[in-house]
Amino acid sequence: MFKNPIKTKSWNNLMNHYEYIKNIKIIDLFKKDKKRFKNFSINFNDCILLDYSKNYINLDTINLFVNLLDEINFKDYINSILLGEKINFTENKPVLNFLLRDINDIFLKNNNLLLEIKKDINANLNKIKFFTEKIINNYWLGFSGKKIKNIVNIGIGGSDFGPRMIIKSLSLYKKNKKQKNFFISNIDVTDILNVINNISPENTLFIVCSKTFTTLETLNNANIAKKWILNFYNNNINSLNNHFILVSSNFNEVIKFGVNLNNIFIVDKWVNGRFSYCSAFGLSISLAIGFDNFLKLLNGAHDMDLHFFNSSYEKNIPIILAILSIWYSNFFKFFTKAILVYNENLSFLPLYLQQLIMESNGKYVDYNGNYINNYYTSSIIWGGTGTISQHSFYQLLHQGTHIIPCDFIAEISSNYNINNSHFKLISNFFSQTQALAFGDNIFKINNDIFFKNLDLSRFIKFKGNRPSNTILLNKINPYILGSLITLYEYKVITQGIILNICSFDQWGVELGKKLYNYIYPYIGFNKKIYKNNISKKIFIDNSTLNLINYFNKKYLK
Ligand code: F6P
Repeated sequence: MFKNPIKTKSWNNLMNHYEYIKNIKIIDLFKKDKKRFKNFSINFNDCILLDYSKNYINLDTINLFVNLLDEINFKDYINSILLGEKINFTENKPVLNFLLRDINDIFLKNNNLLLEIKKDINANLNKIKFFTEKIINNYWLGFSGKKIKNIVNIGIGGSDFGPRMIIKSLSLYKKNKKQKNFFISNIDVTDILNVINNISPENTLFIVCSKTFTTLETLNNANIAKKWILNFYNNNINSLNNHFILVSSNFNEVIKFGVNLNNIFIVDKWVNGRFSYCSAFGLSISLAIGFDNFLKLLNGAHDMDLHFFNSSYEKNIPIILAILSIWYSNFFKFFTKAILVYNENLSFLPLYLQQLIMESNGKYVDYNGNYINNYYTSSIIWGGTGTISQHSFYQLLHQGTHIIPCDFIAEISSNYNINNSHFKLISNFFSQTQALAFGDNIFKINNDIFFKNLDLSRFIKFKGNRPSNTILLNKINPYILGSLITLYEYKVITQGIILNICSFDQWGVELGKKLYNYIYPYIGFNKKIYKNNISKKIFIDNSTLNLINYFNKKYLK
C-alpha cells in the first residue's frame, strides 16, 4: 500500500505502451479490432451502458493498468474500506459510504464497529421516513396552521449540490406537486432574497444542512431565515420548531440554533459532504421524491457498491473510468475533462461532479506526506448540456488545439418525445461522439473547397481522433441516478488510490476561510489599512491592501 505509482514497474510498462499507442488513431484501432464495441463496453444491471471504445486504448492498455492495480495492492485498500479502517487518515475517519445504503446489512459481516454505526444509520433512515411522510402528506403544518408549500434547503458544497442536483434530475418523481423546492447557498444575500421575497414564512420549511455547523455561508443564511420567521411570528421562539429542521454532525453547535432535539438529525462524522447524499443530508431529496423513491436511490447506489466491490477490474465501470482519466491526464497530458449531459434534468450534474472530483483529488501531497511533483492528480472538470453546448464550446472540442476527453451522458427512454424531439436530441448525441472520434474521414467528400480563391480545406477539415466515453442510462429514475452518482464516487476513489492520495479530506479550502476572518473587520469601514496594521499575524500584500482601500473608499462615497 501507499506506493508512488510512477515508481512502479507497471507504470514504466504503461509509459512504453503509451509511446506505441500515441501514434495510433482511433479510426485505426477500430479497423484492427472488429469487436471493439464488445471488447470495450460494460453493461451495469441492464440499466447503464458504458461504451469506452472511442478511446486511445487497446486490450493491452487495460491489462497493463490491471497489473498496476495488482502491483499497488489495490485489493488491500478495498478491504480496508470494507473493514472500516481509517483510510481518511488525515481526518482520522473511515470511509463507510456503502453502509448508508446497505439496507439488507450485507456488508456488516459480524464486524462490531460496523454494526454499531449501522444502528445510527438505521435510526436516521427511520426518522427521514417519518418526516417525509408527515411533510408530504401535509401532517406537518406551519406555526399558524398552514400547509407547507415551500421546502428550502440551506447549505453549501456537499450540503447543497447533492440535493440540488438530484431533485432537479428527478423532477418528474416529485410526490407532492404543490410543494416547491428551493436552494439557498451563497453568502451573496441575493441568493436568499430571491427565495424569501417570493414566498411566505407561514408555509415554508427550512432544512439547514451543515456538517460542521460552522460554515459561514450556511449560518449566515440560516440566521437570516430565522429572523425572517421570528419577525413574522412576533419573536415567538416556538415557531422555529415548525419551520426548521437541522442536519449536522456537530451536536454542540447545532443545538444552539434553538429548535427541539426532534427537529435535529445528527449524522456520523465520517460522512463527508460530497459523499453525503445517502445520509440525512439528503433529507430534502426524500421530501421531494418520497421515501419510497429515496430508498430506490439508495438501492441503485448499493447495487453500484456491489458492482464496484465484486466485479473484476476489467469489467468494473468505476475502475475503467478511473484508468482512462489517469491515462489521459498523466500520459497524454490532457488536463481537463468535459461532462456533457444530453438531458435538461441532468444539467446540474457537471457542477456536482466538479466538486466530487476536484475537491477529492485536487491534492499535491501523497499518502506518505510527500509532495507530488512528477504526476498529476485530479483532472479539471467542466461541462454543460447538449445540445446547447454544441452551439458554444464544441468548436474547441472538435478543432481546438487542446484535446478534451469527454463523458457523454444521455437517457434512452424519455417521458416525452414531442415532435420527435427526443430522437433529435439522441441523434445529436451520437453524431457528436462519432464526429469527435472519426472526424470527417467517415464522409467521402471533396475537401478542396475554395472561397474567393482562398483554400478553405484546412478550415473545414475535422481531423477527429478525439476520445470520449458514452454513458447511456435506461431512464433517469431514482435507482439509476443512485447508481450513476455512486459510479463516479468510486471512480474518484479508485483514482485517489492509484495516485496515492487521500480523496476524502479537503484541507485546500481552509486557508481562504481563515484569511476571511482577518479581512472581514476592515471591509466597509472608514479605516485605511496600512501595511501590517491589519494584524501582526498575517502578511498583507500590496495588491490586496490597495484593493481593500479602493473598495472602502468607493463604497463609502
Ligand atoms: O468548504 C468546503 C466544504 O467543507 C465542503 O467539503 C463541504 O461540503 C462544504 O464546505 C460545506 O460544509 P458544511 O457541511 O460543514 O457546512
